[in-house]
Amino acid sequence: MYKFEHISKFYDIFSKGLNQDVKFYLNEAKKSKGKVLEIAVGTGRISLPLLEAGVDLYGFDASQNMINVLEDKAKNKKIDTKGRIKKADMRNFKYPHKFDLIIIPYRAFLHNITPDDQVKTLNLCHKHLKEGGKLIINFFFPNPYAMVNRKEGKETDITVKRKDFSVRLQGYSRHDYTKQLIHIKHVYRVKNKGKKIKEFIEEFTLAWIGVNEFRHLAARTNFKVKHLYGDFKKRKELKIKRGELIWVLEK
Ligand SMILES: C[S@@+](CC[C@H](N)C(=O)[O-])C[C@H]1O[C@@H](n2cnc3c(N)ncnc32)[C@H](O)[C@@H]1O
Repeated sequence: MYKFEHISKFYDIFSKGLNQDVKFYLNEAKKSKGKVLEIAVGTGRISLPLLEAGVDLYGFDASQNMINVLEDKAKNKKIDTKGRIKKADMRNFKYPHKFDLIIIPYRAFLHNITPDDQVKTLNLCHKHLKEGGKLIINFFFPNPYAMVNRKEGKETDITVKRKDFSVRLQGYSRHDYTKQLIHIKHVYRVKNKGKKIKEFIEEFTLAWIGVNEFRHLAARTNFKVKHLYGDFKKRKELKIKRGELIWVLEK
């Protein structure tokens, strides 16, 4: 399982989320009027604003390093996370109560790289939802052009400057078409004031999942597809280029 040892240090610098996604999840959480579970909370990009707004939210992540960043931020902002955030794997989690809403934002579901893992996660979500409860999952549209053209190579090269240091992220990806996998490598180079450069490398793998494939996964795990949106403004049109899929499933 991923530790995200280095990604956790730089996540908040480079991973700003998707247009209006926090607002979307906050609205859905308020509408649910009950207990909400965020799967793969990361550094709390979504869970902290929801907790701050009074949502009865629980969450977990497989990486203790990501959770540590979340807890530090919660302490600074005086947000009470006591008994709410834990370390767990989405393929094997357990709560004593059921939820009105479960969310898996920002591609985290794609860390399930085999159909077996995908089904395990969806079955556990089903088990932990109340009757009529909703599961919202967001991941990117698997753009076939991007996959073929970017067989192997550098996709990201961003430098962010802060007062005392600058950090450059170079992201590489390699596609395995037969297994529907994307192997991703992040290289972070941190330059401090003294011009010393420190390098951190982290690798991980994501699945890519097609639209109809996910419809089958949902049916196989007894979910009804209530909505499929192409963005967080709830537009139904799906885009191939930089497209997103936002699935709203119901138990
Ligand atoms: C892209 S981040 C999303 C974080 C946060 N939800 C957000 O929107 O910013 C993906 C997260 O999935 C977590 N993750 C990966 N595999 C996991 C698993 N099997 N179970 C639980 N969390 C997992 C990683 O540790 C990481 O924090």
